[in-house]
Amino acid sequence: MGIVTKLDLPCVAMTGIMKVVMVGIVLLLGACGGAKSTTGSTGKVGAIEAMGITPPDSPWEEMSVADKEFYMIGKVNPIMKELFTAHDAEEFSEFDCVDCHGEEMREIDFKMPAPSMYVVPPEGTPGHRGMMSTFPETVKFMKETITPAMGKLLGVENFTCAGCHPTGAKTKG
Ligand code: HEC
Ligand code: HEC
Repeated sequence: MGIVTKLDLPCVAMTGIMKVVMVGIVLLLGACGGAKSTTGSTGKVGAIEAMGITPPDSPWEEMSVADKEFYMIGKVNPIMKELFTAHDAEEFSEFDCVDCHGEEMREIDFKMPAPSMYVVPPEGTPGHRGMMSTFPETVKFMKETITPAMGKLLGVENFTCAGCHPTGAKTKG
């Protein structure tokens, strides 16, 4: 409930949204009548440069689901898209919410980790060693870039793979 996608988001809905989110939406939509771009008219400014890999204004856990969604749309998604496409432009040219939240994202109200995501096996298991040999480059990128960036964007300490991937371990009933 109350979940909208960026395509459903009308320009009028921008009134009152945090400035940082406005910048993100302006970046996403390019041109949106009436919205003032703070980035000027001199070419494109990347999301990371415009907003920084920084935490939200208020603690993530205290934000409403609607505010979390705006933060995702305006900041997390564009910054993550920039990181993923810098790693592999072709593979992630269509990067969007669905890459983290899974095809079932609306049905499960964007709960994370999405059950359809790749399962990261617990460390020390044969499965984990298998992952390391099958996806060495991806795991390095996940460990060194994506996991710390997500932690910073949420302002959450000790963010782990399990924040986005099921781990195979039974964490919830
Ligand atoms: C890079 C991965 C990533 C991308 C891309 C992403 N999200 Fe998220 N999103 C997360 C994570 C991780 C959480 C959960 C954070 C937490 O509370 O631990 C989350 C949480 C949310 C929540 C809050 C769910 C709740 O009930 O607490 C909403 C809503 C949401 N995302 C919507 C979106 C939308 C819409 C998009 C696309 C515009 C998007 N997300 C893109 C990783 C992502
Ligand atoms: C912020 C969310 C997020 C975090 C944290 C994260 N990942 Fe990922 N991971 C993704 C996304 C998004 C993909 C790409 C999924 C796709 O192809 O659509 C991915 C892909 C992968 C893949 C490739 C799977 C495949 O089938 O191609 C592996 C392996 C992986 N992650 C391992 C890890 C490990 C290990 C960690 C912790 C060190 C980790 N990830 C942390 C979001 C995350």
